[in-house]
Parts: sequence; structure tokens; C-alpha cells
Amino acid sequence: MDFGILKNKNVLMIVSGGIAAYKSVFLLRELTGCGASVQVVGTENSLNFIGKATWESLSGRQPLFGTFEAPDSSKITHITLAQDVDLIIVAPATANIIAKAACGIADDLATSILAAATSPVLIAPAMNSAMYLNPANQNNIGALKSRALFHVMDPSSGVLACGVTGPGRMAEPREILAEAVKILTPKPARGTSWFVTGGATREYIDPVRFITNGSSGKTAFEIADAALAAGGEVTLLGVNAVPGFNPGYALLKSSTAAETAEIVKENVKNADIFIMSAAIADYSPVKAPHKIKKGEAPIELTLDKTLDILAASADWTKPGAVRIGFAAETDDLRENALAKLKRKKLDLIVANKVSDNFSPFGSDSNSVLFITENSTEKFDNITKCKLAQLLVEKAVAIYRVKHGNN
Ligand code: CTP
Repeated sequence: MDFGILKNKNVLMIVSGGIAAYKSVFLLRELTGCGASVQVVGTENSLNFIGKATWESLSGRQPLFGTFEAPDSSKITHITLAQDVDLIIVAPATANIIAKAACGIADDLATSILAAATSPVLIAPAMNSAMYLNPANQNNIGALKSRALFHVMDPSSGVLACGVTGPGRMAEPREILAEAVKILTPKPARGTSWFVTGGATREYIDPVRFITNGSSGKTAFEIADAALAAGGEVTLLGVNAVPGFNPGYALLKSSTAAETAEIVKENVKNADIFIMSAAIADYSPVKAPHKIKKGEAPIELTLDKTLDILAASADWTKPGAVRIGFAAETDDLRENALAKLKRKKLDLIVANKVSDNFSPFGSDSNSVLFITENSTEKFDNITKCKLAQLLVEKAVAIYRVKHGNN
């Protein structure tokens, strides 16, 4: 990996009181070796593990521990330190400092900086396995992960200083460095807002039964993740589908095609990039008010046509927005998908072939075509994660072309 982006970056390294602080000495050497300028801030407890002289000689700067230790008396230390840097790294991060950061407690210099931070914060947890897995700690990590500025690394598993084997070992200095590079690398989708839909509608026959399809929403979750990682602001509409973890993007929910249409209408107007991957029923039964009782005679259902949400949304999206849809086809994949692209006024359509032997619904990988008005790209047997990354790259590229690369 190329660590060049760290050159001339101002990094604030917060060291809390854990034995993994010895690894942070190596992290500091790596950071300065890459040309970063590093200010070390420690908690009082960290001094039990590594002394001031070590930090001072390796960073070339006086490490700070107390709230009132001002290197420049004309400025308020914790505010300047929190806001005048490119990146804050907390390594090691004990359960205690994670809990304080999650709750906004600011009772020493290190936690006051975290409470006032406006730069990205990279957290490398290090602690005993039971402490790491404790639900309170997991909740605190979840709370930090849901904040845009905070990036929490997973600790590795192995033999810990306390002799226990399990998760809790701080990530290695090179891994922390690699994460720092990722955070500092300019994000291609920064400044764009995304509205993504995924899942399958349910059209109720009576209060108990419904008509649906096999779409799981997996692709949409991957797209939302990829757009978020690319720096976009993301809203995901989960149609009877929600990701099983705290997603870090805004989550809306709907169930029927009619509800979905309303929510799309309300939200798509703000989107720069709209990706409609939800599988919407084309017909909806007239819902019986009571559970239909079985009898001997066959029954018939009357199905009314639903709104084509994607086509209708051409009037709801703002000018210059990128519009992307999906097509599931059993026959004439390219021709049918291209016709949908035109009919629904799309910039790009992702065409999936569905057959008796293969359905993309619920699977982890897929073979697709990316079709625009004048190009077709084929991607064979790629994971939904990869598909999402490629689609996000493509969407950003189309957006940049429409907006003169701004
Ligand atoms: N779509 C929609 N509203 C509908 C039906 C489909 O917004 N009532 C969207 C889907 O989310 C997808 C695209 O339109 O992005 C194409 O969906 P698909 O089911 O492949 O095609 P249909 O337009 O429904 O046409 P057909 O079922 O006849 O192939």
C-alpha cells in the first residue's frame, strides 16, 4: 500500500492506558517515517505504560497529558488540538475511553479533544476479550460507528497480555496506517446525496396473506455501504428488508408498492443519485377486509396495476440527478433492458438474467450488464459487494460528467 498521502499531514495520536501502548510507539515511528507530523496526547493512566521521554524523542514534540498544559497560551488547547488536525488516532483505545467518547464525557485532555473533534477519528480498540465483548462496550462501539467522523477498527484475536485468548488485541501499526490512508484519501462521492431502494414489496390479499417476490435487498445494502464508503450521504429505503447491523446511513422502511411510491416521491427530490433496486409488484390484489376462508370452489383474485415508480420518478427527481434502475429478464436481456432504460428515462440500467437455473434473488453473486444509451459492459459472476462498488464508481462518473466534473 502507498502511504504517501500521510506526508505533511497533521496527526494527533491519543494514547490511553493499556499495555498495547507499546505498539503505538511503533505506530508513531511509522507515522513520522511517512512524513506525518504527530502530536501525542496521553491519558494519565497511559504514563503507567510508556513515559513522556519516549513520545517526546520519537515525535520531536512535547507530549501533552493535562487539560491545562497549553503549548500556546493564546489558544484553548483541547479545541485547537481537536480541530486543527487532519486525523486523530486513538491507539490503544481502552473500554474506558471508548465509553467516554460515546457519551461525550470530557474529563481530561484526551476525552475533551474527542468531544470537540471536527476531524476524522480512527479508533483502535485494545482490551481483554470479556471487556471487548461486554454488551456495554459493544453498544458504545456501535454508537461511535454510527457517527460520520468516527472509524472504529476491529481488534484481532489471539493471546492477550492477561493470558486469555480471544478478541481484543490492538490492530498492528501497519494496519492502523492503512486505515488512516483510507480515511485521508479523498472520497469520490463527497458532497453527493444518494437515495437507494431495495427489497421486495408485499401486496396483501387479506390481512394474513400477501404476494411478494424473492428479492432480499442484499444488493441495495451493498450499494448503500459502497456509496457511504465513497463519501456520499446515503438514505436507504428498505422495502420489507433491513440490514442486520447499524448501517451508518439513514434508513426508511416501506412494505407495499403504494407506500413505497409515496416514500420515493417524498425523498427522491433531494437525491443527486437515485438507485432503484427494489423489486416492486406490478399488480396488487383488492385486499379483502377479513381473512379469506377456504371453501371447496376455486377462487379468483382481481389484480390492479400498480404505479411504475421508477418511470413516474422522472418527474420527481431534480434536474441533473443520476437515475439508475435494475431489470430482471428471462429473455432478450439487452434489448428489454435498453427499452426500460429509455422508457424510464434512466442514465444506466443494471440488467440481470433470470432463468429456471439461476435467480439473482438472495444469492451472494451475480452476472450483470451495465447498460447506458451507448454502452454495454458485462460483469460475470461478481459478488454483490463488487457489483455495488462498480455501480457506485459508475454513478459518480456519470454525475461528474453531468455536472462538469464539479
Ligand atoms: N419498477 C418500479 N415500479 C414498478 C415496477 C418496476 O419502480 N411498478 C422498477 C424496478 O425497481 C426496476 C425497474 O423498474 O428498477 C425495472 O423493473 P422490472 O421488474 O425489471 O421491470 P418492469 O418495469 O416491472 O417490467 P416487466 O415486469 O414487464 O419486465
